[in-house]
Amino acid sequence: MSKDNVKDLITQMKAAVKSAQNTQASQTSPRPSAAPAARTPAAAPAGASSAAEGADSPAVLALINELMTGVETRFGIKPGSLVERKLVRILKDMPIAILRDWISSMNSCSSEHSEWQSLVENLTVHETYFCRDPDLMGMLADEILPGLIASRESHQQLQVWSAASSTGEEVYDLAYTCMRGLHKAGKARQYDGNKLAPDRGWSLYVLGTDISNQALRTAREAVYGDLGMGSFRNLPDTWKGMFEEVTIPPANAMAGVNYFKIREWVRQCTRFERFNLMNSRPPVQRMDLVFCRNVLIYFEDAVKRAVQIMLARSMSQGGVLVMGASVQMLAPEYFESRLGKGGPWYIRNGVPV
Ligand SMILES: C[S@@+](CC[C@H](N)C(=O)[O-])C[C@H]1O[C@@H](n2cnc3c(N)ncnc32)[C@H](O)[C@@H]1O
Repeated sequence: MSKDNVKDLITQMKAAVKSAQNTQASQTSPRPSAAPAARTPAAAPAGASSAAEGADSPAVLALINELMTGVETRFGIKPGSLVERKLVRILKDMPIAILRDWISSMNSCSSEHSEWQSLVENLTVHETYFCRDPDLMGMLADEILPGLIASRESHQQLQVWSAASSTGEEVYDLAYTCMRGLHKAGKARQYDGNKLAPDRGWSLYVLGTDISNQALRTAREAVYGDLGMGSFRNLPDTWKGMFEEVTIPPANAMAGVNYFKIREWVRQCTRFERFNLMNSRPPVQRMDLVFCRNVLIYFEDAVKRAVQIMLARSMSQGGVLVMGASVQMLAPEYFESRLGKGGPWYIRNGVPV
């Protein structure tokens, strides 16, 4: 959770409660979409304040907890104590009745509602960069792909899913590495210098999904700046062929930053969609390779297991799942474990799920 995210969240909460207060005061105004109005004005008289109860009164803490539980149940994200403390501080002067009604109104909204969406935009961590774990990408290229490509000879396609792809770097890493893997296996050809395309008959498809619409927008634009600790902090020289310099900078360009776009031949096998990992039905099936990294660490074990079962459901037999070294496999009945130079990886067995 970055400082900016917390600040945004607090701004959002302030605006939402203020808007609820305004609505309550006017009573005849339409309900603002940013904050559902109090549904029981009698229980929330104008000017009612929580000040008497104090910032850390059991009532305020219970409400914040209720909000955080809603976030966790709907999106798996377990917000840290820092966010809770900030919320307590900022909500201390809010009329409790209004806050209670706003939260209870949130509880009755679907997870797809724009209010939940904007809360989630603020609570999610989008940290990612190209070639984030070189050992793991090396393991993919040297240990996983040769066998996987050979085993897909009969249907000649490689279907890949990056679940929680954030701003897209992982998706383009996967597209580039898989295309090079196909080339090495004699299933892709080189054209126009260093561009690659699958051989006739073969196809490569890489899907990126995330809960954050902002992240998905950046991913689809596929333009990245060379800020110090940005997307390129770990990029090996040999991967530079994936990019072309952008001659017209993006609208929100920062001075002194150069921008690069993923080349068309890499982009054309990728696609991005919004998907909440808490869904038990995956957005795709028969995936050959699934990456789900640096997101399950924010989830409780029971949720992790449910997500891993959903991922198993998305995969074809013999498909490979990579979650990174810090995530334990909690659905072992659906996978065989392997340990490579870049950490553990899992092969989907034939057990139906
Ligand atoms: C730290 S990024 C990881 C990006 C990339 N996988 C990597 O390893 O570099 C975590 C991403 O998970 C997404 N996320 C969090 N909860 C999610 C959920 N319930 N469903 C889908 N995506 C979620 C966030 O929006 C964020 O973009």
